[in-house]
Amino acid sequence: MCGIVGYVGPQACADILVDGLRRLEYRGYDSAGLAVFDGKRTGVVRAVGKLQNLVTALKEKPLPGSLGIGHTRWATHGRPTEVNAHPHCSGEIALVHNGIIENHIELKRHLAEEGVKFASDTDTEIVAHLIHREAKTGDDLLGAVRRALGHVHGAYAVAVMDARQPDRIVVAKNASPLVIGFGEGEMFCASDIPAILPYTKRMLPLEEGEIGVLTESGLELYTLDGKRVDRQPKTITWSASQAEKGGFKHFMLKEINEQPRAIEDTIRGRVDLAAGDVIESELGIDAETAKSLKRVYFIACGTSHHATLYGRFLMEHIAKVPSQTELASEFIGRDPVVGEGDLVVAVSQSGETLDTLAALKVAKEKGARILAVANVIDSAIPRAAHGAFYTHAGPEIGVASTKCFTTQLAAMVLLAVFLGRRRGTLEKERAQEILQNFVEIPNQMRTVLALDDIIRDLARPLAQAKSALFLGRGVSYPIAVEGALKLKEISYIHAEGYAAGEMKHGPIALIDADMPVIAVMPDDKAYEKIASNVQEAKAREGHVLAVATRHNADIGGIAHNAIYVPKVDPVLSPFVTALPLQLLSYFVADFKGTDVDQPRNLAKTVTVE
Ligand code: F6R
Repeated sequence: MCGIVGYVGPQACADILVDGLRRLEYRGYDSAGLAVFDGKRTGVVRAVGKLQNLVTALKEKPLPGSLGIGHTRWATHGRPTEVNAHPHCSGEIALVHNGIIENHIELKRHLAEEGVKFASDTDTEIVAHLIHREAKTGDDLLGAVRRALGHVHGAYAVAVMDARQPDRIVVAKNASPLVIGFGEGEMFCASDIPAILPYTKRMLPLEEGEIGVLTESGLELYTLDGKRVDRQPKTITWSASQAEKGGFKHFMLKEINEQPRAIEDTIRGRVDLAAGDVIESELGIDAETAKSLKRVYFIACGTSHHATLYGRFLMEHIAKVPSQTELASEFIGRDPVVGEGDLVVAVSQSGETLDTLAALKVAKEKGARILAVANVIDSAIPRAAHGAFYTHAGPEIGVASTKCFTTQLAAMVLLAVFLGRRRGTLEKERAQEILQNFVEIPNQMRTVLALDDIIRDLARPLAQAKSALFLGRGVSYPIAVEGALKLKEISYIHAEGYAAGEMKHGPIALIDADMPVIAVMPDDKAYEKIASNVQEAKAREGHVLAVATRHNADIGGIAHNAIYVPKVDPVLSPFVTALPLQLLSYFVADFKGTDVDQPRNLAKTVTVE
């Protein structure tokens, strides 16, 4: 999600900034821009699309100068257009930002009341105006940025220039990454190490709530409340490709580990804990529509389809509306009975999947209201829908979806609470409880990720298997089918995901000592039932690995091995049970030496039928 690069020093910096942005391309972007101070004023060039478009624009309008900031934008607020691209300016201030400003609506209203005119639809431009307003009081840039950020809630990494103080860049960080590079008589900042690794190996990642001033002579670092910080840079020994993966062996492993952050970003600014409600202006569903809904249809493919199975569970459980999930390719192959009064939720990480788009069009023609859940702003599926809800997973490079999947699960929770509150099926107190537990989920996910060594050991024998059976019930059924898909797509081991209750209606015939059984059985009302299904598998010599809650002390007598996840609100357990299965598949594939990030025959965006 968004890339930042900044430079202050003796060299002409436009090429350094573009080069840095190129090394951040893996983060995904849809527009890019630079601001460079030329000795008199700050020039800005921005372009939509690939960096090459920015390079072409820079040929027409070169930006000489040795103080500059650059940005690649992954659109979240406002379409990917030139006016929405960064840097954003207000008076002498130029700013680049990575993150999401939660209270942007309120801040924008205040600024508009003060007469500020906005050039873009972005949350970022608001911060530029806030800094400009503070800088008018004559204080230095550091003080102005600090005071402006005092009004801002949300996630940000910013780099700010002021043409009246052209020897410095002010940087600050809260929840979005920013690293400082120390050169000889020159300083850099960037969203990630690879951007500036060719120029310096001495780096200092900023910590939460830090603000600093970069000048040719170094970094002055403070906390946002003004205390001086004294930390020294470290020498980075990673290669450029290791640095791109954040030191992880594969993008998939990096993305698995990014999930707590991705969920935080997807929730940020969308829940009102005091009201027990979900704030969402992009859904395009008013209270009347929510109340009169006849049915919710989910359409999706692959992993996104598995997220919708959870969506159906929540829709019935929380919003009490009849719901069904449809594989998009099957939906278009039939003559589905769908129309006015139905809400069709099309879920797609890429936002471009042809089958999902075709299904959406069929439903739209028949008069249904369409809501898209997508990770790529302004992609085909949200464009074709009446409303869009964006997950904020950031770009996913590994072909096997991980963080996009769990952020889709998060979207399902938010949508169900949103509808439940408007339909009067979810009491305020229960909504508050669900949402409070939900905002705590990223930390529970972090404790699961810390089990990676245990999961790696459990994966080793699984790498020898020819086939595996994943079982789940109720809220865990979608996780079982997704667990099986992950294993098969990256390790090429045949795997089936099954509703545990169905086992005795067929798959039990397959069970013997060579068939590992992975049972997703957190502590919920399905526990006793799935425990007996597992006993049935064990009685036929199936080797059982349970993903369970430590609380269930009897699990030792039921399964051969267990991965223990924290106890969470039962409706939210998929967030903690999905992770061990992703890690398990990852380690199995890594033991087998397959191409984890680009499994054979698979594509990240499927634009064919
Ligand atoms: C599997 C995976 C695929 C996609 C499917 C739909 O890990 O990623 O199954 O989920 O191709 O793609 P989107 O979500 O882009 O519509």
